[in-house]
Amino acid sequence: GRTVRVALLGCGTVGSEVTRMLLGDADELAARVGAPVELAGIAVRRPDKHPELPQHLLTADAGALVESDVDIVVELIGGIEPVRGWLLTALRKGKSVVTGNKALLAEHAAELAEAADASGADLYYEASVAGAIPLLRPLRESLAGDRITRVMGIVNGTTNFILSAMDSTGAGYAETLDEATRLGYAEADPTADVDGYDAASKAAILASLAFHTRVTASDVHREGIAGISSSDIGAAKLLGRTVKLLSICERVTSDDGTESVSARVHPVMIPRSHQLAGVSGAFNAVYVEAEAAGELMFYGQGAGGAPTASAVLGDLVAASRNRVAGGRGPRESAHAALPVRPMGQT
Ligand code: HSE
Repeated sequence: GRTVRVALLGCGTVGSEVTRMLLGDADELAARVGAPVELAGIAVRRPDKHPELPQHLLTADAGALVESDVDIVVELIGGIEPVRGWLLTALRKGKSVVTGNKALLAEHAAELAEAADASGADLYYEASVAGAIPLLRPLRESLAGDRITRVMGIVNGTTNFILSAMDSTGAGYAETLDEATRLGYAEADPTADVDGYDAASKAAILASLAFHTRVTASDVHREGIAGISSSDIGAAKLLGRTVKLLSICERVTSDDGTESVSARVHPVMIPRSHQLAGVSGAFNAVYVEAEAAGELMFYGQGAGGAPTASAVLGDLVAASRNRVAGGRGPRESAHAALPVRPMGQT
């Protein structure tokens, strides 16, 4: 069969793992896909800073790489502009996109999905929520015949690490954040994590898929963990509880029968006996409740190079198989147009 040509945009922690897996297991990958998968180019800001990568693949011109003769664009740069423009160009030209960019999806999923639908390309983003955990595909495909009522869990590893550490050591927030930064669990600028923006983007993506509607990050009520003190954690302990930052997406039916969606991120005191209380460190865990399926729990590594690369490669294999078969994966069905309910009305 023909070769599937792949462009990689960005080669940081996740991108370098994706590169390693693509170049290292090329034969195995070709066998799974039914055609060779070739890494055609890697766009990085500073090619001279990457002596470890095959030099002939490197370019600083992501836009030109997207426009070149490639079938699939894998985007791991992050941020909204200029990435949004590159991905729209790719999709409009019928090239499939695999991305882990939660901030972009939480604002522009509708526009990207429409471009994909119009050209018949695939848009996959399993890596954008909960790293290695297969979660978006189950919501989009396995549970497509059921009616999901709630998606709730821990989708930010940094804040979960900090809260777990505060619970076990009794130390304060600032001190624990410093330790998390020193150990490399928190980023140099931890704002997106500790103020809940990262979890809110993920909640928007989860609510959109679960309820077949469009929820953006600005629709999500958001409260972070910066206000949590060691005495809050101590008080929770006395009550047999622990504090977790939860993302909660629910289908809400009001008395007159109208349906809406509630999506929120905030710290919650949960009983220590609850399964989510046992999720510590940088792990993620998400409960999904559906009418026929009942309760499901998804658990695993929600961040990090190799775990997140696993999700990216899975999407890349799916998009490649679709290319080889001459088809595409399932389209998103954002048909429900459910209003998003402000907080306090649930
Ligand atoms: N900053 C994110 C987290 C990385 O801590 O979970 C994974 O999306």
